[in-house]
Amino acid sequence: MPKRYTPNDNWSRKAAAEGYRARSVYKLMELDERFTLLHPGMMVLDLGAAPGSWLQYASKAVGRQGKVIGVDLQAIDEVAPNVSVHRFDITNDAKIETMLEEEEVGYVDLVLSDIAPSTSGVKDVDQWRSVELAHAVLAVATRHLKKDGFCVIKVFRGGDFDELLRDIKTAGHWRDVRATKVQASRDRSREVYLVMKKR
Ligand SMILES: C[S@@+](CC[C@H](N)C(=O)[O-])C[C@H]1O[C@@H](n2cnc3c(N)ncnc32)[C@H](O)[C@@H]1O
Repeated sequence: MPKRYTPNDNWSRKAAAEGYRARSVYKLMELDERFTLLHPGMMVLDLGAAPGSWLQYASKAVGRQGKVIGVDLQAIDEVAPNVSVHRFDITNDAKIETMLEEEEVGYVDLVLSDIAPSTSGVKDVDQWRSVELAHAVLAVATRHLKKDGFCVIKVFRGGDFDELLRDIKTAGHWRDVRATKVQASRDRSREVYLVMKKR
């Protein structure tokens, strides 16, 4: 009997064939097509970046005049000369500040986060951790994203998701806040991407 592939397997095979480290790249591509996130010369911060497919895509989009900084708990193999990678927990504010000082970056043009907690198997716990991480990304973006810059954050829907969305909308730092799904997400995934602009 011939082997059957689901559409999700196809994303992974396509990523491998096109030299990307993860199928997640097609999520960023779709978001970039819809919101025009990336431009040549940009300074981009990618939080939760391993294994690095978003870094690969962003590196090409910003070009030699731009720069991409990736952070993850996991080690990330070198990507390109315009990408620097760091290994630490993004909830550690002191490490974020030190890294940006060392990189000589005050403000960035774009904050991306495809961050996901390591799954515990308990749906509510994973969802809660995902929202906690989203708050940590928002805190970094609030301090370091330029006015009118986009912030993109993956978060799992459920539990306290509505509260997170309400907090973002009322915080006063953000405008044009959208919660959107992308085609490359697994069919039953609860992940959504929050896309917003800094005031
Ligand atoms: C879905 S993966 C990101 C995939 C990436 N966008 C790509 O295209 O290769 C989510 C990542 O979030 C990272 N992560 C989870 N919690 C983190 C934390 N507190 N600090 C830094 N990275 C974290 C995980 O280690 C994992 O590599």
